[in-house]
Parts: sequence; structure tokens; C-alpha cells
Amino acid sequence: MNYDIKDISLAPKGKKRIEWADNDMPVLQKIRERFQKEKSFAGKKMSLCLHITAETANLARTLKSGGADLVLCASNPLSTQDDVSASLVKDYKIPIFAIKGENEKTYYKHIKSAIKHNPVITMDDGADLVSTIHREYHQMAPQILASMEETTTGVIRLRAMEKDGALKFPVIAVNDAQTKYLFDNRYGTGQSTVDGIIRATDILIAGKNFVVAGYGWCGRGFAMRARGMGAIVIVTEVNPIRAIEAALDGFIIMPMTEAAKIGDLFCTLTGDIHILRKEHFRVMKDGAIICNSGHFNVEINIDDLKSISVEIRKNVRNFVDMYKLKNGKRIFLLGEGRLINLAAAEGHPASVMDMSFATQALVTEWVCKNKKKLEPKVYKVPENIEKWISEIKLGTMGLKIDKLTREQVDYLTRWDMGT
Ligand SMILES: NC(=O)c1ccc[n+]([C@@H]2O[C@H](COP(=O)([O-])OP(=O)(O)OC[C@H]3O[C@@H](n4cnc5c(N)ncnc54)[C@H](O)[C@@H]3O)[C@@H](O)[C@H]2O)c1
Repeated sequence: MNYDIKDISLAPKGKKRIEWADNDMPVLQKIRERFQKEKSFAGKKMSLCLHITAETANLARTLKSGGADLVLCASNPLSTQDDVSASLVKDYKIPIFAIKGENEKTYYKHIKSAIKHNPVITMDDGADLVSTIHREYHQMAPQILASMEETTTGVIRLRAMEKDGALKFPVIAVNDAQTKYLFDNRYGTGQSTVDGIIRATDILIAGKNFVVAGYGWCGRGFAMRARGMGAIVIVTEVNPIRAIEAALDGFIIMPMTEAAKIGDLFCTLTGDIHILRKEHFRVMKDGAIICNSGHFNVEINIDDLKSISVEIRKNVRNFVDMYKLKNGKRIFLLGEGRLINLAAAEGHPASVMDMSFATQALVTEWVCKNKKKLEPKVYKVPENIEKWISEIKLGTMGLKIDKLTREQVDYLTRWDMGT
């Protein structure tokens, strides 16, 4: 078996992590049991470009149980859990091409290794796999039944490709399913970003000014959890609706030029570029901490930071680099500006990934059943998939809800009953 991982001897630790995560992924377990019997993916080659975490391992096991012949590469150079990769190779016989901390050249070499697997189905988190196929392996496009996209930034890139007429095979926007973004982006990113910041810095959050850039699903989750830990949360936005929402949720709103002067910690979660720049770094307090939890490492302009620094000290603590500016102030950058929740912590808790990856697994099955009807477009996740997952998840949480009565069903479909 061809693979490239850090160290196969890490497998026992990885296996324990995978099994631990699986305890909290009951919906995916149910799907795995069914796939095992039905073998809907028998012989289908799949290449998955995802964060290689314990939860992803359980998705990979699920697809393999359905007969898929799959390989995985990382969707971010810093998000791989090397022990999980080792276990996937050794215990589950799934080839992995990913090493935590790999440089950009190796990152793309690994993506190309996954492409050379010759997939008919791909899965992406940020669209790097799909865009590499479109750029360098476009002759493969006709064989690809569809690709599933896991995150907001990837969906934005794929919609841009669709608009330009550049998209060559169907894509399903898994991120946009309610069973994904409402829980993964909000509660997953909320908790794991706080976790990443604490693991990297061990700072006391209570009483600190936390500046949250972007009040989308991820920003909402992080702002809510940071406030829960006692931070004074300031939100910056470019969208007036989102800014009003943040204000009515009780957060302080101001432009970044103002927030930069008073923030103790800054976290970008926008999916946009260069949110923190030279003019912001220059006015920050001594000791300000900056990090990112948006998909790409472009939200903090690190070149700007370097250009105004007189001293740079790498790894003053794990995942912390110190930049000393000409004005004598120090800025601490976490996780090289990459997703802090995956760089310094373990990514989202398994319970939310249960729903995200149940969606991925069922959409993959749906693609195989509907391949003849699909065109090179960005598709939504079918509603019945979201409905099934949410009902099963609710049940596994031990929660019950009411059912509409016959009278209520009738009332909700009529227009002639008013006051
Ligand atoms: N850390 C993780 O594990 C994780 C998980 C899911 C998604 N993501 C990524 O996080 C990012 C945000 O995702 P989302 O689902 O919250 O997206 P979203 O579209 O719901 O929210 C993004 C918000 O950022 C705002 N914004 C854009 N430019 C801005 C600027 N210059 N200043 C301030 N605000 C700005 C937008 O108005 C919007 O409200 C994406 O890159 C996504 O891929 C990360």
C-alpha cells in the first residue's frame, strides 16, 4: 500500500482516539451498519481531502464499510493528527497522504497523490482538491460523478467556478445543509476555537477584550462561547444585517481600526482576506494575541506583520510566534495564522461532526444513485437527508418533540382561515 505519513508506530494511540470519537457519532454508526450490508460503493474509487482527525477517520471507515476504495489527503498543512493517520493505514488499511506541519510543496504533492488514485468521487474541505483537478488534471473531469464540499470557503470558490462556466463536474454543497452549518460551524467552531486558544496560550479569558472579526455561523459560535468564559466581546463586520444581529445579541460593534486599539485577543472568522493588516498591528497593545479560525491562512496579513517587525521569535511556546514591532510592542501570532482550532486543538467535537459526516456519507450514496441526473452545477443537499439525520440525532440525544396534529397540518396548508 502506497502512503505518506509521519510515523506508523503512532497507530495504537490513533486507534484509541478514533474509537473514542466514534462513541459520540451514533448517527454515523447507524449509517455504517447499513452500508456494511448494502455495499453501495463496491469498488468505487474515492479521494478525500479533509482535515485528518479522529472524526474524519470514522467517516472514512463508514465509506469503506460500503465497499469504497478510498485514500485521504489533508485539507490543511497543520490539521493532521499523525496518530490517527497511522491507525488509518495500519488498522483500517486506508492509505493516507498527510503529515502535520508539511510545507506547501508537500501539501500539494499529497493532494496529487490522492488524485493519482483515479477517483470517481471526491470530497473536499476548502476546494483545493477540486481546483487542482480542474487546473492540472482536467482530463479526469468526465469520470467524476460528483464532489462533496465541506466548508463555506470551498462553496464560495465552487460557486465562483460555476458562475464562470469553469466547473466541470457536479458538486454538492454539504456545508450549506442545516445539519452541517448550524451545528458544526456554530457550536463546533465556537467550542474548538476557544479550546485552541487556551491550549496555545493558557491565558485567562475572563475580563479580556476579545475581538471577533465576522459574525457568520463561526463568528456567532465563537463570540457566544468566549462571552461564556467571561470575555468582553467586540464584533467587527462588513454586513449591516449581521452587525445588527450581533448588537442585539449584546455584543459591542465597532470597526477594526477602533477595535485594534483595545483588543487583548483577535480572532478572524470571515472567509475573507487581510482582515488584520499593518494599520491594525501598529496600534495594537503590547502583548496582543492574534489568531484565525477561518479556512485559509490569509485573514491575517502575515507579510505585513513581518514587514513592520524588528524581531521575530518562533515558538516562544508551542503554536505561538512573537513579533516585535519597531514601536517596541509585541504581537503574538497563534498557529501561523492557520485554523487555530485544528492547529492547536483537535478540531470540532465528535458529536457535531456526527451530523456533518452523516450528511457527507448519505450525500455520497445519493450521488451514486442519482449520477445520471447530475450536471456540472453546485447542488444543495436533498431535504430528506437533513430530515432523516436530524430525527435520528435527536433520538440518540434522548430527546422527544411533538408531532403536528391532523388539524394543525390542515391549518398550516390553508390560506382561508384568518381572524
Ligand atoms: N475553524 C473551523 O473549523 C471552521 C469550520 C467551519 C467553517 N470555517 C471557515 O470559517 C470561515 C467563516 O465561515 P462561516 O460559515 O461563519 O461564514 P459566513 O459566511 O456565515 O460568515 C462570514 C462573515 O464574515 C463577514 N465578513 C466578511 N468580510 C469581513 C471583513 N472584512 N470584516 C469583518 N467581517 C467580514 C461576513 O459579512 C459574514 O457575516 C470560512 O472560511 C469557513 O470555511 C472554519
